[in-house]
Amino acid sequence: PKRIFSGIQPTGAIHLGNYLGAIAQWVKLQQQNEDMILSIVDLHAMTLPHEPKKLSENILQMTATLLGCGIDPEKVILFQQSAVPAHTELCWCLGCISTMARLGHLPQYKEKSKDMKDIPLGLFVYPVLQTADILIYKQVNKIQIVTPAVKSLYGFRSTHVPVGEDQVQQIQLCQELARMFNNRFGQTFPIPHSIITGTEYARLRSLRDPEKKMSKSDPDPKSRICLTDKPEDIARNVKKAVTDFISEVTYDPVLRPGVSNLISIHSFVTNKSVEEICTEATGLNTGQYKQVVADTLVSYLKPVQDKICRYLSDRQYLLDVLKEGSEKASEISERNLEEVRYKLGLKFKA
Ligand code: TYM
Repeated sequence: PKRIFSGIQPTGAIHLGNYLGAIAQWVKLQQQNEDMILSIVDLHAMTLPHEPKKLSENILQMTATLLGCGIDPEKVILFQQSAVPAHTELCWCLGCISTMARLGHLPQYKEKSKDMKDIPLGLFVYPVLQTADILIYKQVNKIQIVTPAVKSLYGFRSTHVPVGEDQVQQIQLCQELARMFNNRFGQTFPIPHSIITGTEYARLRSLRDPEKKMSKSDPDPKSRICLTDKPEDIARNVKKAVTDFISEVTYDPVLRPGVSNLISIHSFVTNKSVEEICTEATGLNTGQYKQVVADTLVSYLKPVQDKICRYLSDRQYLLDVLKEGSEKASEISERNLEEVRYKLGLKFKA
C-alpha cells in the first residue's frame, strides 16, 4: 500500500476547494486501506498573526470537520502537529541545510509576503516545517514499536502526499531537502511525491474570478463556499458565480473556466461524469443551471453539516481523538528523530 501523509491548517471553516481537492480525496484513500497519517497543522496556522482563543477553537472545529467529512480515527492517525515536538526539531535540522535564496523563491511565500512590511520569520520557514512534517514519518523499525495500534504501521514512510495543486512547489522543496540531507549525512529519507487525486478538483476556482483559485484568504466571502455555510448563502454564492456570455452549459476549463468550475462541483456531489451532467443540462441556460447546482449542493452538504455539528458538541471526544492520534504519531516520529540526531552527530552510540 501507499504510505500517505497530509496536513491542513486549522484556519476556520474550510471551503469546497479544501474539501474536494484534499479532504474528500483522503476519505477515498482511507477506504482503499492505505496507511495514512493526517495532521492538523496548528503551527503553520501561526505563521500569520493569530488570536490564541480563535486558534484553539479552530483546532477543534477542524477535528470535527474532518470527522464529519468521514475521516475515521480508527483507520488513520489524526493528530495535532504541535503535540508532536519532533516536527519542530526536524524543522530546525532541515533549516540548517536550507538556503534563504531557495525559500525566498517559493510562490506561496512571495504571494503571502508581498504586501507585508514586517515579514514574520515563521512565514519564511513555513515550507521547511512542512518538509519536516512529511519526512519525520519515514520508515521505522518494526521491532522498536511498542504500541499495538502502531505496530500495523511498521515500515511507515511518507511516500505519497495528497494535496491540491497549490502545494506542489512545497513538495518539490521537500524532495530537494530530503536529497540534500541524504547526500550530506547518508541515506535517511525516502523521497516523497505529491499525488493529485481527483485531478479535476485539484484547483477549484474562485466563484468571483475563475482565473484565481478558491482561497480562504480572498477578502470576498462570495468567492467561495464554506462547508458550514447556510443554505441561503450557498444558493446566493452559486447564483452569483461569474460565468460568461454563452448561455449553454458546456465543459471547457480553458475557455469557459467559470461554468466548468460549477460543473466540476456538480459532478463531485452527484458522482456523475462531466458528460452526463452536460447532457442532463441540455436546454438549460447557465442561470437555470446555477439553480440546479445550488439545490444539489445544499442537499449534499446538509448531512455533512449535521455531522460536523454533532462532533462539535462533544468536545471531550474531539480531545480524546487528538490525544490518541498524537500519541501514535509521537511514537513513530520520536524513533525517526533518534536516527536523525545520530546522523547529525548530536547523539552518541550507546
Ligand atoms: P491548506 O490548509 O491551505 O489547504 C489544505 C488542502 O486544501 C487544498 N486546497 C485546494 N484544493 C483544490 N482547490 C483549491 N482551491 C484549494 N485550496 C486549498 C490544498 O492544496 C491542501 O492540500 N501547507 C499546507 C498544509 C500542510 C501540509 C503539510 C500539507 C502543512 N504540512 C504536509 C501536506 C503535507 C496548507 O496550507 O494547506
